[in-house]
Amino acid sequence: MQFQTLDQIERSLVDDHDAGELVAPGVKVARRDLLRLSALGLAWLALPTWVRAERQRTATGTEGERIEVVMAEIRGLASKLLAEENADEEAYLQSLAKLVGRMQGPPEPWFGWQMNRQRWGMDVVWYSQPVVLYHLKFEPEAVIDLHDHRHYNGLLLGATGEIAVRNFDIVPEEGMSLDLRRGVVPPEGKEFLIRQTATQTLKPGVVSTLTRDRDNLHVVKAGPKGGSCLDVFTHFNREARSYSLDWTGKPEDSQRNTYRATWKKEE
Ligand SMILES: [Fe+2]
Repeated sequence: MQFQTLDQIERSLVDDHDAGELVAPGVKVARRDLLRLSALGLAWLALPTWVRAERQRTATGTEGERIEVVMAEIRGLASKLLAEENADEEAYLQSLAKLVGRMQGPPEPWFGWQMNRQRWGMDVVWYSQPVVLYHLKFEPEAVIDLHDHRHYNGLLLGATGEIAVRNFDIVPEEGMSLDLRRGVVPPEGKEFLIRQTATQTLKPGVVSTLTRDRDNLHVVKAGPKGGSCLDVFTHFNREARSYSLDWTGKPEDSQRNTYRATWKKEE
């Protein structure tokens, strides 16, 4: 999911802070300024010097490569992908899976997890267009219901616990103009057909991917002990964001695994 627009992500990371404001434990803003550090950067700064030295020393090998290093490499690949005329998202996501496989685990947000009413929380760990890295945490059985990933692709990597992922695609029907790669989807207020295309359980190290026109819709549900995962999203333009759908969850045709859905009205 990425229900935030790119503007909203940027506003949350590049925020206006007052002089003297405590922005992380032990870190005060010296003057009124724009803060250009990610939550990860702040958490890093907040650590005592000896802890930073220790973490840097152990940041390779079994613990994996530093997040900033891996994400910088991914950003390079993403820029190339976006420059291609016929972007090969599958090859790109395969490369990403290899890269995140050697990345160290994400830190816990220094401000603690702020869970929403649906009992899941998120932290933007790294952001530099066209890529964002989210860390998501779910309480037991928490659900992010059906939503799309318009104008972007994604890779989910299980970190702790278990998270069930069910993917769907929009099924083209007669008289419907669809161009999923360009974000041309069925109109609002009109029911359309979707088909379940994949199911997977994210456990530590397990990856689930979706492209703009393959497995682009999904529902995620944490297992009985909850779980956490990392999401790497690659934006093809500034319109990239998720939209929720309404559906009953009851199949229209259980053999074909099809369902009826509509776009949820935006508030
Ligand atoms: Fe999602």
